[in-house]
Amino acid sequence: MRCRTLGVFVLAGLLGAGACARDDGVAPAPDAPVATPTGPAGLDVMPMVFDPALRPYTLSGPLIPAAVTMVSAWDIPKNPLTDASLEGTEEGERVRWGFRLFMDTPAEAPQLTPSRMSCGNCHLNAGQRELALPLVGAAGMFPEFNGRAGRDFTLPDRIVGCFMRSENAPGGLTDGAAGVSDGRLPDPASDEVLALAAYIEWLSDGFAAGENPPWRKQNRIPADALIPLDQLDPAVGETLFTEHCVACHGEDGQGVQIGDKRAGPLWGRGSWNDGAGAARVYTLAGIIRFMMPYLNPGVLTDAEAQQIAAFITSQPRPEYPHKDQDYQTASVPIDAVYYDR
Ligand code: HEC
Ligand code: HEC
Repeated sequence: MRCRTLGVFVLAGLLGAGACARDDGVAPAPDAPVATPTGPAGLDVMPMVFDPALRPYTLSGPLIPAAVTMVSAWDIPKNPLTDASLEGTEEGERVRWGFRLFMDTPAEAPQLTPSRMSCGNCHLNAGQRELALPLVGAAGMFPEFNGRAGRDFTLPDRIVGCFMRSENAPGGLTDGAAGVSDGRLPDPASDEVLALAAYIEWLSDGFAAGENPPWRKQNRIPADALIPLDQLDPAVGETLFTEHCVACHGEDGQGVQIGDKRAGPLWGRGSWNDGAGAARVYTLAGIIRFMMPYLNPGVLTDAEAQQIAAFITSQPRPEYPHKDQDYQTASVPIDAVYYDR
């Protein structure tokens, strides 16, 4: 019953701010009957809507500011579904499908997504939130050298990498996974990849090629705050996880339903595989440090974020089958803990 009570707690706090409201603006009492075992009555099936006119904070340029709480979770500052200029054109429809793919990858591309991860689980607000792996303006930075692959990557190449690792595309069909793999792997010319690229390019309208947006790649723990891996203790991380994360991610890390939102599995069969960037301890710490916990992001110290990342990476996750082809021309980063060195 923890999920239900905490879900109500979360929603009551959020809804009070008036950004995404039930009709009556009131969350049900903790002991109200539930429609499903995973969420508070009614709220688990109700799509949360966000009215930009009622936005209770100011955007930071094109992005949602990093300090705003989960009240912003349903805010998409630049939303292709409500942009009438995309109506009826082939390119407009591609951008819209790319957005839907981004927000619900397992449903829109089941054959490429054996995991339960959506792009938008990690790139919050559809890639439009500060310090949450934002993608606004990123398209113009490609082609870009990719150290892991040792060659230049176009934007579609980069997206293929996300499918192969963050979405665990090579994971195939396993019992209980979301996808229905037909054995096809994504390539830079796949329709899904091109649609996602179209959405990310659309997010970069108005940015000159080669113009590096100041908010790009900022989810980093500063070098002088990095703790050597052998000094990180998964047991310490687990205690912090229980304190700060379990309400929304569950003790089993599989994600709790919050309204129509649910975080992706942090470990286990439905999670990203061990070749993903998020499977690196410091990379994951950089994500967690600035965008979580969602009710008060920024509250963790650099050290705490690293302890939690060490705990999460100590848990089982799918294996990326081509790790031996990575880092052929660069040394394996110290925090890539699943790689032989
Ligand atoms: C498990 C978390 C996770 C998921 C899921 C995920 N990504 Fe990412 N993505 C990352 C991380 C981490 C980076 C590296 C960001 C950095 O260097 O600051 C990244 C980088 C990117 C980049 C390069 C950004 C840049 O500025 O160079 C693109 C494009 C991208 N992701 C698109 C996607 C797409 C499309 C999907 C879904 C198919 C996806 N991602 C799913 C974690 C994720
Ligand atoms: C108030 C609820 C809440 C709390 C507390 C919270 N998270 Fe999250 N988290 C979410 C939601 C919701 C998402 C997915 C966001 C989306 O899809 O829009 C998410 C996404 C993530 C992701 C991206 C990958 C994934 O599996 O979806 C990571 C990593 C993460 N959270 C880690 C943490 C950690 C570590 C803590 C504790 C320090 C934490 N979170 C606390 C709600 C929460």
